Amino acid sequence: MKKIKFGPLYLGALFLVTSLSSCFIDEEETTTLFMSDENYALVSQHLNLPNELPNYSNSDEDNRDYQFDAKALVGRVLFYDKHLSIDNSTACESCHHQELGFADDKDFSEGINGQVTERNSIAFSATGASNSESNPYFGENDFFGASMFWDHRASNVPDQIRETIENTIEMGMPLDELDDKLNDVDYIKVLMGIAYGEGDVNYTISSDDIVDALLKFMQSLNPSNSKFDQFLNGPSINGGNSSTVFTNMESMGHNLYMANCSTCHGFTGGMPIFSTMNNGLGFYYDDKGDGSYKFKVPALRNVSVTGPYMHDGRFETLEIVIEHYSSGIYPTLGVPENIMPDFNLPVGGFNFTDTEKEALLQFLHTMTDESFLQDERFSSPF
Ligand code: HEC
Ligand code: HEC
Repeated sequence: MKKIKFGPLYLGALFLVTSLSSCFIDEEETTTLFMSDENYALVSQHLNLPNELPNYSNSDEDNRDYQFDAKALVGRVLFYDKHLSIDNSTACESCHHQELGFADDKDFSEGINGQVTERNSIAFSATGASNSESNPYFGENDFFGASMFWDHRASNVPDQIRETIENTIEMGMPLDELDDKLNDVDYIKVLMGIAYGEGDVNYTISSDDIVDALLKFMQSLNPSNSKFDQFLNGPSINGGNSSTVFTNMESMGHNLYMANCSTCHGFTGGMPIFSTMNNGLGFYYDDKGDGSYKFKVPALRNVSVTGPYMHDGRFETLEIVIEHYSSGIYPTLGVPENIMPDFNLPVGGFNFTDTEKEALLQFLHTMTDESFLQDERFSSPF
C-alpha cells in the first residue's frame, strides 16, 4: 500500500483514500500527515508531537489501523495532561512513569492537595505477547485474571480509568465536568476532533471519548523486546526454548521461576494466570485486599525497575522480594480463621541457596525491555 496523505482536516477520509489508492495505481509517495499545517502549528505551541502519525497498533505498516493510532496518540497526550485533575496539578504520569515501567518509585504516590494514595502504584506491564485492541490485559471487556487494581475492584480498564479520574485522592475530577473543561483546551479540542470527530475540530468532546482514548493508549503498551522475549520467541531446541539466549545463571533462574513462581505469575511474566492470591506477606495484614487478604497477582514485566514492591511498597529491592519467598512466607493468623498462603507457597519459604537467589534475580532482570522504557511513542509530549 502507498503511504497516503491524511485529508488535512478529516481523518475519516483516510479510509476512502486508502481504498482508492489501492484500486487506482498511484505511484506518488506522500506522507501520513496527521494534521493540517494550521492545526499542527496550534498544537505545537503546547506539545512536542510528530505530524507523522506513530504506529501504535503494533502491526506491520501494510496493516496499520490509522484510526486506532490517532486515538492512541490523543490518549498519550491525555495521559500526560494535568488538565485531567480538578486543580490541574496531577496527570496520570504523576504516579506512573514510563522509565519505571509506568510504576512510581515511592511506596505511596502523591495526588491532589498533597494527599497520598493508600496503595503502591501498579506498573503497566501488559502481556508482552499481544497487540493493540486484542491485548486482553488492557481490554475493554471484563477479563478474568486481568481485573484492575490490587483488590480487583475494577473489572476492566474503562472502569479503572473512570474511577481514577474521579478518585478524590488521585485526580478528583468529576467526569461530567471533565468534558466541558477539555472542550475549552484548544490543543485537546483539535486532537480529539481529528481522532473522534471525523476531523471536525468543533466536535464536542465527551467523557466517554476521553476514557476511550486513554484505553487505546494503554492497549498500545506492549513491552515485548526483552531478553526473556528473545528466549520465548527463540528457536525450539529439543521441544524447549533456545538455551543460547540465557546465561547459565539466567537459565537456572528461569527453571526456578517455572517451578515455583509461574503458577501465579504465568509463563511469560505478563498477564497473570490467576486473579487475587495470598503470597504470605505476614501474620497480620493492615489492608484486607480483596476482602479476604488476597491481592492482585502483578505482572512482572520490567519488574527490575518497578520497585518498591507489593501493594504497600514494603520491599525496596528485588533481593528483598526473593528473600521473602525464600525465608519469609507466613500464614495470616486469626482473621477469623487462619489463611494459608496460596498454591505451592510453603510456610517458612522455599529456602533457596545463595546461588539460586542470584539466579532468580538475574532471570527477573531478563524481563526488562529497555526499548519500551524509552520508546518515544509513549513519552511525554509536553
Ligand atoms: C495519585 C496517583 C495516581 C494517579 C494520578 C493515577 N494513578 Fe493509576 N494507580 C495508582 C495507584 C496507587 C494504583 C493502585 C491502586 C489500587 O490498587 O488500589 C493505580 C492503579 C492503576 C491501574 C491498574 C493496573 C493494574 O494492573 O491493575 C491502571 C491501569 C492505572 N492506575 C492507570 C491510570 C491512568 C490511566 C491514570 C490517569 C487517568 C492514572 N492511573 C492516574 C496511582 C495513580
Ligand atoms: C500463590 C501465588 C504466587 C506465587 C506462587 C508467587 N507469587 Fe509473587 N506475588 C503474588 C501476589 C499475590 C503478589 C502481590 C502481593 C501483595 O502485594 O500483597 C506478588 C508479588 C510479587 C512481586 C512484586 C511485584 C510488584 O510489582 O510489586 C514479585 C517481584 C514477585 N511476586 C515475584 C515472585 C517470585 C520470584 C516467585 C517465585 C519464587 C513468586 N512471586 C511466586 C503471588 C504469587
